[in-house]
Amino acid sequence: MKLVHTIKELRDSTAPVRQSGVGIGLVPTMGALHEGHLALIRRAKEQCGFVGVCVFVNPTQFGPAEDFSRYPRTLPDDVRACEQAGADIVFAPDVDEMYPPGFSATVDVGGVSRLLEGLHRPGHFNGVTTVCLKLFNIFQADRAYFGQKDYQQLQVIKQLVRDLNIPIEIVPVGIVREPDGLAMSSRNRYLNPEERRAALVLRDALEAALSTYRNGQIETEALEREMSAVIAAQPLASIDYAVVVDAETLQHMDRINRPAAALLAVRIGATRLIDNCLITQEMPNIVKL
Ligand code: PAF
Repeated sequence: MKLVHTIKELRDSTAPVRQSGVGIGLVPTMGALHEGHLALIRRAKEQCGFVGVCVFVNPTQFGPAEDFSRYPRTLPDDVRACEQAGADIVFAPDVDEMYPPGFSATVDVGGVSRLLEGLHRPGHFNGVTTVCLKLFNIFQADRAYFGQKDYQQLQVIKQLVRDLNIPIEIVPVGIVREPDGLAMSSRNRYLNPEERRAALVLRDALEAALSTYRNGQIETEALEREMSAVIAAQPLASIDYAVVVDAETLQHMDRINRPAAALLAVRIGATRLIDNCLITQEMPNIVKL
């Protein structure tokens, strides 16, 4: 497996692969890889002859008061993990390689990017869509793999690809959870032991909503109240949002008469965590314990 740092090196490595007709899979990441990322790489390897992983902590998707400078940077470990999971190349550019002096473009897909995370983290999704479009152009991959833990990000990326006719297939991959049900996240490593225990409140809130739904409650406000009550009972937690919305548009719905998603953003101490589960008529068991 190769590690490259420049766009030229990446293109020199992928051009012959593309010319030989081998499918290319892209896994965009910000590093600090965990089992959730490795599931993306493994899925890509099942479906594509050649898999590239990008490791880049993208400054443009962090707000001024967010954790860009302290975001974990663990490239040597990440490279080893990528190799073990079956990646063929890791692209780890520095900030100037991606945003050289004079860079000024921004991709703004509007729509679904304006809601929820878009309200709580202004500019975040413009940073995500701009860097992802750059990566799609740099890799010219056939497929790109995104985790469902970042549920809204996935919908935003689908809108980007749909609206701009980008010739790439977006492949969603299910949430990978710790054995106790906490969704894996690079930010979990910020939690101290007490906060780590408190973070299970996200799982508990989703389970409460699912079980209330399974008992026949289809009013979204009731499910939202249920989730909020569970979170409010945890002293270390504070809610950014706890909603049940249309699974595709993420717009408010009064009652669940089509696929819906429960989405949470909760601060545990100083750490902001997100989690979600689908709530469909088929009543899947999403939060596995
Ligand atoms: O999900 C992430 O880690 C990032 O938002 C992404 C997609 C790699 C873009 O920087």
